[in-house]
Amino acid sequence: MGNKIRAAITGVHGYVPEHVLTNADLEQMVDTNDEWIRTRTGIQERRILKEPGTASSDLGARAVQGLLEKTGTSPDEVDFIICATATPDMMFPDTANIIADKVGIKNAFAFEVNAACSGFLTALLTAAKYVEAGMYKKVVVVGADKMSAITDYTDRSTCILFGDASAAVLLEPTAQELGVMDAVMHSDGSGREYLYLKGGGSLHPASHETVDKKWHYIYQDGRPVFKAAVQGMADAVREVMSRNGLQPADIDWVVPHQANRRIIEAVANMMDFPLERVMINIHKYGNTTTATIPLCLWEWENQLKKGDNLMLTAFGGGFTWGAIWVRWAYDVQAG
Ligand code: UT7
Repeated sequence: MGNKIRAAITGVHGYVPEHVLTNADLEQMVDTNDEWIRTRTGIQERRILKEPGTASSDLGARAVQGLLEKTGTSPDEVDFIICATATPDMMFPDTANIIADKVGIKNAFAFEVNAACSGFLTALLTAAKYVEAGMYKKVVVVGADKMSAITDYTDRSTCILFGDASAAVLLEPTAQELGVMDAVMHSDGSGREYLYLKGGGSLHPASHETVDKKWHYIYQDGRPVFKAAVQGMADAVREVMSRNGLQPADIDWVVPHQANRRIIEAVANMMDFPLERVMINIHKYGNTTTATIPLCLWEWENQLKKGDNLMLTAFGGGFTWGAIWVRWAYDVQAG
């Protein structure tokens, strides 16, 4: 039996806008305070894309451009690009096509996936399957979200949470036991009543009424989402671990979606993962939706070693959630 082809992550790059929105800034905008935000969410500041005329595709293009440069990949070599986003530039054409155009990727199959905060995992798993099938060999998976475009900065329950960012990984085939090893993804559409943006789609096309009712902004009923997120992420991680015979000590790094530091700590606690092995950067960037997980990989890249077992996990709107076991494929120093 020949070795199974797997999809290895062979590079990662992130981009965050320069403008910093601090908790002190938010204190001037809504009835909130730094202490509440830090203790309830762990967030201290987030980045906001301020340049006029820029969108999620610009965030995504900056991450992808950096990824191609750092991995020595020519845009012509990329044969597939998936963009995960909850804030597409427009209804269509989709954001993956626009990013491809902006970075000069001309020979690629490109499409967007929308699975809210689970978007990066959904895109990564989708891309991995195309690689495993032998169809594509240089694949870009990018998460890009301009959350500030759908955030109501008069709603204190949501505006403190979100930030703008993007990050991308390169996937390539390998015959070694590296890369995307296994995954469990779930969805439950009945969760849509707790986390949504209802205006502008085919159910509630944009109108004066949808604008007046603020239906073009994100709505979240935080408590039920919090509860479902902790349970969903812990269950998905447990499922992947048990069917692969993995123990907590086998996992070198947990890479959770960054929605709330308390959610991350609760999941780590339930799973017996020491916090030193859990990537957390929510204090700097807030919840950047599809960018959180690759942004962590980018920030921790120098500490990762070939063969490290990573457990990626996310929960988001839909509800959608899951976990992906990735075996890291390279050492930065050796390269
Ligand atoms: O990424 C997609 C998935 N999303 C998530 O996983 C997010 C899940 N949810 C959460 O992270 C949390 O529910 C939140 C951070 C959104 C909210 O935290 P919470 O501990 O669930 O607070 P709460 O909504 O139950 O509100 C507690 C109190 C309320 O006041 P009363 O009713 O107790 O008097 C709120 O009005 O805190 C008040 N509050 C605030 N106070 C100061 C809500 N937002 C704020 C604020 N500043 N920004």
